[in-house]
This record gives sequence, C-alpha cells and structure tokens, in this order.
Amino acid sequence: MPRLDNSLPLALDGYAWLPERRRRAGGPFATRLAGLPATGIAGPDAVRFFYDEEHVLRHGAIPEPVQGTLFGHGAVHTLDGDAHRHRKAMFLSLLGPDGVAALAEETAAAWDRAAAGWARREIVLFDEASRVLAEAVCRWAGVDGTLPAADLVALVDGFATLGPRHWRARRARGRLERRLAGLIGEVRDGTAVAPAGSAVAVIAAHRDLNGAPLPPRTAAVEVLNVIRPTVAVCWFVAYTAHAMHLWPHTRRRLRAGDPAYVEAFVHETRRFYPFAPFVGGRAARDLTWRGTRIPAGSMVLLDLYGQNHDRMLWEEPYQFRPERFLTLPPGRDDLVPQGGGNPATGHRCPGEGVTVGLLGTLAPRLAALDWTLPPQDLTISLRRIPARPRSGVVLAVPAVDRAMVG
Ligand code: HEM
Repeated sequence: MPRLDNSLPLALDGYAWLPERRRRAGGPFATRLAGLPATGIAGPDAVRFFYDEEHVLRHGAIPEPVQGTLFGHGAVHTLDGDAHRHRKAMFLSLLGPDGVAALAEETAAAWDRAAAGWARREIVLFDEASRVLAEAVCRWAGVDGTLPAADLVALVDGFATLGPRHWRARRARGRLERRLAGLIGEVRDGTAVAPAGSAVAVIAAHRDLNGAPLPPRTAAVEVLNVIRPTVAVCWFVAYTAHAMHLWPHTRRRLRAGDPAYVEAFVHETRRFYPFAPFVGGRAARDLTWRGTRIPAGSMVLLDLYGQNHDRMLWEEPYQFRPERFLTLPPGRDDLVPQGGGNPATGHRCPGEGVTVGLLGTLAPRLAALDWTLPPQDLTISLRRIPARPRSGVVLAVPAVDRAMVG
C-alpha cells in the first residue's frame, strides 16, 4: 500500500513528528517526505550507520528551500567523498582551539560593551545576543563592518516554513551573498585586505580538489556558513536564560564559576532545548536497518531531537539536569544536537567547539548580570521549527549591574 506523504504532519507537529512516529512504530519509521520514501532512525548505532558514506550520501538530499535559506547553494553540506573531506578540512582548520579562543575573546568584549548600555532598561535577550555575536564573529572572520544580525537570524528562522519567514530569509541571503561575494573579489584582487588566517582570507584563497578557487558566490556561501551559525548561538543564549529562570539553582552555580559545571550546563542546554530536529541524506544503495528495508535513493532521517530525549540513553530526559554531564562527558554518538560521528570524515558540525566555547563564555556573564523577568510569554512551541521562547526573553536590568565576570 502506498504510504501517505508526511510533509503536512511534519509542518503541524514540528519537533514531535519524528520521535512520536518512531515511538509508535517501535523502531525505524518508514514514511514519505516531500515525495520520496523516507526512513527515520535514531540511537548511537544508527548514528554510525547514518554517517557511513557507504550507506548515506548528501548529494540531492537537501531540499532547495533549505539550500536557498539556511545553507546556500554549493555549500559543504551538499558534498560527498573526497570533495567533502577537502572542503571540510578548511572549516576545521578555522574552528580549532585557537580559533575558538580568539572568537570567545571577541564575543566577551562585544558582550561587555553591550551590557554596559543595558542598565535601567528592558532588553530582548535573543536580539541583543544576536547583535553581540554578529559583531564579534564579523570582526573575527575579517569582514569589513558588521553584517546585519537580523538578516543572519532570518536565514535560520525561515528554513523550515514556506510562509513569510521563508521569503524574508531568501531576500536576506541574496543581500548577504552579494556583499560577501564582492568582498571575496576585492580580497583576491588586492583592493581589500583580510587579516591573515581569518575566515575571509582562508576561504578566498581556498582551492577545491581540482585546484580551482571557489566561485565568489560559493566562497560567500561558505563565509556565511561560519558567520550565520555563530550568530545562531543566540538561540541557545536565550535558552540559557530560560533555564536559569526555571531552575534558579543553575544560575547560582554558574555565578560560582566552576568551569566543569559551566561546561555541563552548556551540554545540558544543547541536549534539552529544541534546535535542529533531524538531519537527512539519501541511501547510497539498497540498505536494511533493524529489519526495515531502505531502498537506494530514498531519504534516511537521523532523529537528533528524539535521540537527545531518548529514555534508553538519558535518565529522566525531560528534566534539565546539568549534573548528568559532571561525572561523564557526553559520548561522541550519544549527544547529537549538532550531528554525530567524526567531524573530519562526516558531516558532523565543525562548530561544536565554537558553540560550547561561546556559551561557556556568555552563560556565566548572563548569570552574573542583575536581571529579573517582567511578565511575558516564555512559551517555547515545539510546533515552530526552529523553536524559541515567544518573547525572545525580556530581561529587566536594574540601575547598577554586576555584568563583569572574570
Ligand atoms: C548554534 C548552534 C549550532 C547548531 C545547533 C548546529 C547544528 C548543526 C547540524 C545539525 C549540522 C548538520 C550535521 C549533519 O549534516 O550531519 C551542522 C553542520 C554544520 N555546521 Fe553547525 N551548528 C551550530 C553551530 C555552528 C557553528 C558555530 C559553526 C561554525 C562556526 C557551524 C558550522 C557548520 C558547518 C560548516 C556545517 C556543515 C558540515 C558538513 O556538512 O560537513 N555550526 N551544524
């Protein structure tokens, strides 16, 4: 019997769509999505199955509306094999420990400058954090001036809908790519200078496996693939305030500044709160997973949100408990908010160090800032992808604050 296409239920159920159907199926969930057969899987073994290129490839897997907003056309996300590993190495070279430390320093400085102006005001944390991150990452990446934070947020906000948010994201991408492609051209012909080793300099000079430089528009796409997700850390910054409000003891412990607790809190924030729902690829050949046949060319979906809330992996998964990460660091293929597997050989996010580093810098600062929450709607609807607290988290900051930490 033909299976019903699940694009509409996905749009209606959001984050619950795949975990709920896997639960009902009692294992892999076979369906149709965007006109293709699709199988939803999860768990550490499924992560290893999914990230094996003998099983799952990315070419032709990412729908155009997602490329036209979130990732950009020709992005590293869409490559396979040697071409992928070569381009990926460029990202990893930029995002190692030295890169993370320098970006964290820029971010701390930008936060402290912004926080100095928050006294006696009500601020929307999501918006403020996006501007702080945009300023810091543009400076760090070697972009002249700061790209508009609202445009960078729009790219993420509009990828999973075909409504007005989506068209806003497409327009923002057009503006951002044009500006950055111009900058790449100027850096290449010497009319602009990007600091040596910066993302703009490295991407402008990068040559693909065939020895050719990236077309300016593709180079712009990849510069954005560093800048856009760094600004998206504002989603998690808003979530950290949400957590500190609901579980005030976490704020007290963050203020004490124990680095092990800060890191555990950051991991729990990435595990608990909704961001990337799942990732998808196409079966490289006919496959079988736990008895379910996966035909060549069909979609395979790895349920990231579902795995991060799986009772088999996490004790009381719907409790926010940073302590779970105090004794044991997260297993490579257990905690998967940014994908799983080996980032050098597969598509796992190369920006996990950045995400953990920036949240580890900002969460203690936020905990130390004097704020209260005025009445507001903090609801996080799991039907909206990407989710976020409805109010953006409004903070009332009194006259004298204690914003500075360390
Ligand atoms: C805001 C928090 C972030 C989340 C939730 C997130 C999530 C993800 C996810 C789910 C993937 C796809 C994994 C897959 O396809 O298997 C990914 C890939 C990627 N992310 Fe992130 N990410 C974040 C931050 C970052 C940062 C800070 C950077 C860079 C500075 C970054 C750069 C990338 C790139 C370049 C890829 C493509 C990797 C590839 O295809 O090989 N991300 N991310």
